[in-house]
Amino acid sequence: MIVGSISENLNQEKRVAITPDVVKKYISLGLKVNLTKDYAIHLGIKDKEYEAEGANILSSDQEVIQNSNAILQMSILSDENLNKLKKDQILIGVLNPFLNENKLKDIISKNIICFSLELLPRITRAQSMDILSSQANLAGYKAVIDSFAYFEKAIPMMMTAAGTISAAKVLVVGAGVAGLQAIATAKRMGAIVFATDVRMASKEQVESLGGKFLTVEGIENLETEGGYAKETSDDFKKKQEQLLKETLKKIDIVICTALIPGKKAPLIIKKDMIDVMKSGSIIYDLAAIQGGNSELTKVNEIIDSGGVKIMGESNILNKLPISASNLYAKNLFNFINNLYDKEKNNFIINLDDEIIEKTKVK
Ligand code: NAI
Repeated sequence: MIVGSISENLNQEKRVAITPDVVKKYISLGLKVNLTKDYAIHLGIKDKEYEAEGANILSSDQEVIQNSNAILQMSILSDENLNKLKKDQILIGVLNPFLNENKLKDIISKNIICFSLELLPRITRAQSMDILSSQANLAGYKAVIDSFAYFEKAIPMMMTAAGTISAAKVLVVGAGVAGLQAIATAKRMGAIVFATDVRMASKEQVESLGGKFLTVEGIENLETEGGYAKETSDDFKKKQEQLLKETLKKIDIVICTALIPGKKAPLIIKKDMIDVMKSGSIIYDLAAIQGGNSELTKVNEIIDSGGVKIMGESNILNKLPISASNLYAKNLFNFINNLYDKEKNNFIINLDDEIIEKTKVK
């Protein structure tokens, strides 16, 4: 059996699904690997590095699609390439089934099997495949690095003969995977870190990283069975708003990461709350593409509101595509390892396996 991958649309996606490291793993599993010429040249990875690990480099995307049983990607293929897929072929990636519902219905009706990795259940067995965690972790780190780069003061406390510089104060809104990495990164750089979340389980995690947890008064635990957040009540929203408005007066940098799966991001930082912040403060909105946690966020723009800079990007992972690809490619290999039966030399669509059942696009 052969797995293949073609170049992504580089205007939107710089990450790749297969790295030279994982080619070796696919080959030792008994699979062959097809890649399009210059597959990862934009990351400085030459074809010969892939060939050295045993990959076949083909001259066009069409050849790769025609000669592979499973196509492994980061994002969904272009319409033109989707049309080239054949019956019984498998397409795996972050296919965004909510946004691409019609496209995916169309190809599934041609008996093409699609797996979308953002649908993976958060169970222990799936941890090594968990692309949401591996990518969110890097996003949390990079949001801190980028916002600190825009901040025009030093981050750690410094006592010098010329006087003392006080440590920057960071607020992390949403303490999931990205938020916890943001807290850890900001702490390592010497900031004083506050964080808030609607899940009580996150309080202990924030505190274990040295952050101060801001508890909304009368908080009920808004956590689903799967560990995700529920939507908050109007009463909760009001109390959270009061608490944050007071806190934001002394905060220098806000990192927003709050999300509710399958819904628009909750609006948490409203315009009147931004108005109380000091000039020179920064808001980095990692939820920008899902609608933003801050009212003033505009995707891929830096907004200046009374000296407060508000920023958020469509794909922050394009800013560390090599690290992100390394982790994604390993997640994807672990998914294939579970799907492929070496003895039968086939991909087995066992719907009794929760991982396969949940990720298969219906
Ligand atoms: P996410 O990306 O869906 O959301 C980010 C954070 O925003 C969450 O912590 C959420 O509670 C918070 N949030 C949502 N609405 C909010 C609001 N109005 N105000 C403040 N905060 C708000 O979540 P992520 O990072 O994907 O993690 C979700 C859960 O999954 C966590 O419990 C995490 O521990 C768990 N998890 C479990 C794994 C496993 O394999 N067992 C792996 C990774 C995460």
